[in-house]
Amino acid sequence: MESRTHIVIGITGGIAAYKTMHLIRLFKKEGCDVKVVATQHAMEFVTRTTIETLSQNPLCVDLFDHSMPYDVQHIALAEWADAMVVAPATANIMGKFAHGIADDLLSTILLACPKPIFFAPAMNDNMYMEPSVQQNITLLREKGCHIISPNSGFLACGSNGTGRMEEPEEIFAEVMELLRGPQPLSGKRVMITAGPTYEPIDPVRFVGNRSSGLMGFALAEAAAHLGAEVTLVTGPTHLQTQVPQIHRVDVETAEEMYQQCMLVQEQQDIMIMAAAVADYTPANPAAEKIKKNDDELQLQLTKTKDILASIGKVKRDDQILVGFALETEHERENALKKLHNKNADMIVLNSLRDKGAGFGTPTNKVLMITKDEQTFESELKSKADIASDILNVISNML
Ligand code: CTP
Repeated sequence: MESRTHIVIGITGGIAAYKTMHLIRLFKKEGCDVKVVATQHAMEFVTRTTIETLSQNPLCVDLFDHSMPYDVQHIALAEWADAMVVAPATANIMGKFAHGIADDLLSTILLACPKPIFFAPAMNDNMYMEPSVQQNITLLREKGCHIISPNSGFLACGSNGTGRMEEPEEIFAEVMELLRGPQPLSGKRVMITAGPTYEPIDPVRFVGNRSSGLMGFALAEAAAHLGAEVTLVTGPTHLQTQVPQIHRVDVETAEEMYQQCMLVQEQQDIMIMAAAVADYTPANPAAEKIKKNDDELQLQLTKTKDILASIGKVKRDDQILVGFALETEHERENALKKLHNKNADMIVLNSLRDKGAGFGTPTNKVLMITKDEQTFESELKSKADIASDILNVISNML
């Protein structure tokens, strides 16, 4: 997505307006240029300072605001927009647009805008179900508008029913999907493992490794950008992600990661095992903190379940399974062995010999080997770029 997508967000007078502040953030984070047009009533719920700080643009409220830099404001904004999103949309704004009424800045811009228009209704459940409101929504759909239906649940007015504005993440995802067009991984489910695992020795100590989770998180974000619904099963890491299409599942041990992966593996189209899963775990973790009474301490370790190999055993032909291999010697032979032994479709080989590649670094250098032994080599680059390369190879395999 190029960085200058123009979004006009219309805010009308409903309590859900506070959630629209988060929607502005989501579009800004994506690199969009956001301009906000609010009705007078909307300004009862949110402030100019909040909107202007988040959108980094002047807020437009009045039809005849001579301080604004646009020649004819409503025409300028309507032409500037690549899409308009009215959230929350009251019964009033939908009724006005359905019937061609333009009596304030927002309703005037809507009439002048030739680009996709989204409405995210929010109101009391009885109002939402009222026949004239439903007729107006039908009229809007007939005009080609996109209605992002409200959810059911507890409403701010105290009743329980349909009328709660859809969550900002969902509104954002729906708008971006339309603007980006069909993506290579649209409709695909992708599971990614990331990070290290911590295997408890006692309640305060663990056996772990130096994996940061960066590669797995980069893969999750790249897959989401290509349109996939992502399940990210991650071991302990300080990393965060706010991409709406990523469902994050936090785990600690190899066993927990195994359980979570096995729960969802059947529904996945693509599975990428980027986690550095412990191969061994303390056999009998102590229930209480181990005191340093003895000069020596022996830890007995037992093998963990191999998640990649376990999925390799049950996977269907229409599922793509990708493993990682971190090798220090005989890299290629060892990677090929893993590929075949674990029944993967591709293995991504990191070599610790390459400077800047592997654990904890922001960059990586990999060799991808498919099961028919085609190879794709990347140069040293950011993990985000490596993630795109890996997903491009996988998309071509689909
Ligand atoms: N893996 C896994 N479950 C484990 C161990 C590893 O799913 N219990 C996955 C990793 O996520 C990676 C791949 O297996 O995708 C290879 O991991 P690696 O540790 O390099 O290989 P191992 O099979 O553990 O073999 P070795 O440590 O002997 O090299």
